[in-house]
Amino acid sequence: MGKPTVLVTRRIPQDGLDLLAAQFDVELNADDHPYSPEELRQRAAGKDAIMTLLTDKVDAALLGAAPGLKIVANVAVGYDNIDLEAARLHNVQVSNTPGVLTDATADLAFTLLLAAARRICEGDRYIRAGQWKGWQIMGFHGGDIAGRTLGIAGFGRIGQAVARRATGFGMHILYTDAQRADTKAEDAVGARFVDKETLLAQSDYLSLHVPYLPATHHYIGAAELAAMKKTAYLVNTSRGAVVDEPALAQALHDGMIRGAGLDVFEREPHVVAELLTLDNVTLTPHLASATDETRAKMSLMAAENVVAVLSGKPPLNPVT
Ligand code: GLV
Repeated sequence: MGKPTVLVTRRIPQDGLDLLAAQFDVELNADDHPYSPEELRQRAAGKDAIMTLLTDKVDAALLGAAPGLKIVANVAVGYDNIDLEAARLHNVQVSNTPGVLTDATADLAFTLLLAAARRICEGDRYIRAGQWKGWQIMGFHGGDIAGRTLGIAGFGRIGQAVARRATGFGMHILYTDAQRADTKAEDAVGARFVDKETLLAQSDYLSLHVPYLPATHHYIGAAELAAMKKTAYLVNTSRGAVVDEPALAQALHDGMIRGAGLDVFEREPHVVAELLTLDNVTLTPHLASATDETRAKMSLMAAENVVAVLSGKPPLNPVT
């Protein structure tokens, strides 16, 4: 009997590939082109495991085309690219990479918060365009950080890590979540649990850390933006579709809120044209977990889940 076969749908850090190659026949998408749904189906057929990225749609059609599949190991903490119900029906395990990207993602959320408030990218563009004619006391005023209120929507691992960073900057923390966190987690950062309405009304900075689910589709839309302070900033490092982007562009244009920092977009790599014309939004290309160490750990963790399942054990980081 040959070795079990694993499809790795994009290039990933070597750590995970080395682990897989020691035990399995690995088919790697070495030139890193995003597979079309048809190509993904064809390549997944006959495999025992696939390691997917958030750009791969894992649906009933794919799972039906790969009857021998035992695990889909997503190299990401989010898994909204995977139809979990279809996976359950096909008896396929699903895993993700929680924990290892918490700090990198929280760092990026806080970077976007600071960059938006202090107009970093706008200032950079201004200098490069040769527009800087000298220091002005009235130039480039931004938002204060110390003493301001950070609202966190989704107080899980990453939301709490953002809160820890904010305490070092002297911010007050409010949060909302489907469930209230335990007192220990709240006390660690002095966070107060509030409802969404209060969060929107009281936050000077609002950072989104909710997973993307039908219930969080356009969690921030026109009504929510209108309920925020005119001086507030919005940061999104969760999933693009959590925010109604045209409504956000309108709010930024009309001064309904003061600024935003976005790492994720509803139809990546497409960014709505209106956002691209605005100076008060800072944009990054979904890079929150992109540090050497974090991406290496994600690759290894996903591979460890494949090893576990193909050895007849449960996944180490199951998603159900
Ligand atoms: C990135 O967005 C992830 O879910 O890991």
